Parts: sequence; structure tokens; C-alpha cells
Amino acid sequence: MVHDYPVVTSTNDEAKSLLLHGAAEGTVVRAQRQTAGRGRRGRQWVSEPGNLYCSLILVPSCPLAQISQLSFVMAVAVGQATLPFLAGPEVLSYKWPNDLLLQGEKVAGILIETEGQTCIVGIGVNVQSLPNQVAYPVTALNHHTKVILSQEDLLSGLLEQISYYYHVWQKEGFEPVRSQWMQRAYGLGKTMGIKTGAKEMSGQFLGLSPLGELLLRESDGFLHKLMSAEIS
Ligand code: BTN
Repeated sequence: MVHDYPVVTSTNDEAKSLLLHGAAEGTVVRAQRQTAGRGRRGRQWVSEPGNLYCSLILVPSCPLAQISQLSFVMAVAVGQATLPFLAGPEVLSYKWPNDLLLQGEKVAGILIETEGQTCIVGIGVNVQSLPNQVAYPVTALNHHTKVILSQEDLLSGLLEQISYYYHVWQKEGFEPVRSQWMQRAYGLGKTMGIKTGAKEMSGQFLGLSPLGELLLRESDGFLHKLMSAEIS
């Protein structure tokens, strides 16, 4: 069921509140605007009307240690939902862990907040407008489409793709999702700077391990497998 709001603080907040009132897995919250949209690592997510802001309640039946794989499931689902609209599918790439880029510029982000086994999956897609004052290059879907879209045009396909990839992951495991993500992995094989906790290093980015770890080979040949890292 989709709960639609003109304005909320954050669709993730609204989904959490619905969860407290007994909302079931699969509940979707969508808003035209957010007054306190948030991104990963405490960053603000500027949320003017015209872009897509939604959150879903999901309760994956997997060990807690595998829940981080859901990030990639969602990135691939959002990517698949945008592909039919793109003038050229080659512009789409996935940046670790779950950013979507078009021609190297960020078009969508995913924020997963967990309460035990329950996940609130927040998705923001720049459909029409570009957030200003962000520290990285950004773009909007409509700069890359054959026709001008509204966020409404994207939502139903997005929910279909999420349902499809979520069930694939739950039934067949991570490999089908991993292979989709790897086909469009941003910076694959290139030298990348990585920050993990207080440590910074650089090495060749080798993509995802079968568990969803980031693989980075340092110049001395040592292979790092990292569950959490920021790449530059
Ligand atoms: C990121 O790339 O940092 C993640 C951005 C996630 C933004 C979405 S918009 C809908 C949902 N509500 C929020 O407050 N954040 C997520």
C-alpha cells in the first residue's frame, strides 16, 4: 500500500511511525517534498518538489550479517527502473555502495535504516531538479531521458523492480544481484581512494565479493575485503 503525503519531515520518519502503528512489510511512503530529508552519514538530502522521495518497509528473512546486501538489491532495482527511460543505457553506473550515477554524476541515493530485522529503505531520485550546495557532481534523470518524466512516471516501475529483485535475492541469494551490479560498477579495475573509519588507502577496485564486501587490491598485492567504506 502506498501512503502519499504532500510534505513530511522525511519519508523514512513517516515509515517508522507507520511501523510503530502496525504497518506491514511492503508498506510504501511517498512525499512530494521533505523538510528534513537525510542522506547517508548524516548528510542532508535537499528535497524540493519534482523529485521522487519514497520509503519502504521490508523485513528480509536472512541472517543480520547479510542485510547490507539489501543496499545493492535496491540500487539494481532503481537502476532497472530508470533504464527504459534513458536515451542511452550506457550512462548508468552504480557507485559503491548504492549510489546511482548517470554519466558519472549522482542521480539517486538510498538510505537504509534498520530496527533489528526490519529495514526502512529510503530512496531519493533527482527526476526534475538538481539539489544545490552538494559536495559532489549531481544530475537529474530528465537530463538523460528521451521524454520529460514526472516522478509519478517512475514510481510504479520502481516498485515493480524492487519487488522483483527483492524476491530474487530472498529466493536465489546474492549472486544474481551481484552480477547485475558488477556489470555497471563505477570505477571497476581503476585505482580508487578509500576511507574506512579513520584509515585511508588506495588500490585497484575489484568490485563486490560474493558476500557484498568491497574488494580493493593494494599495490603490494594485499586484497582488502571491506563491509563499510567510502570511496572518493
Ligand atoms: C544518500 O545518497 O546519501 C542517500 C539519500 C537518500 C534520500 C532518500 S529521499 C527518501 C528517503 N527519506 C529521507 O530522508 N532520505 C531518503
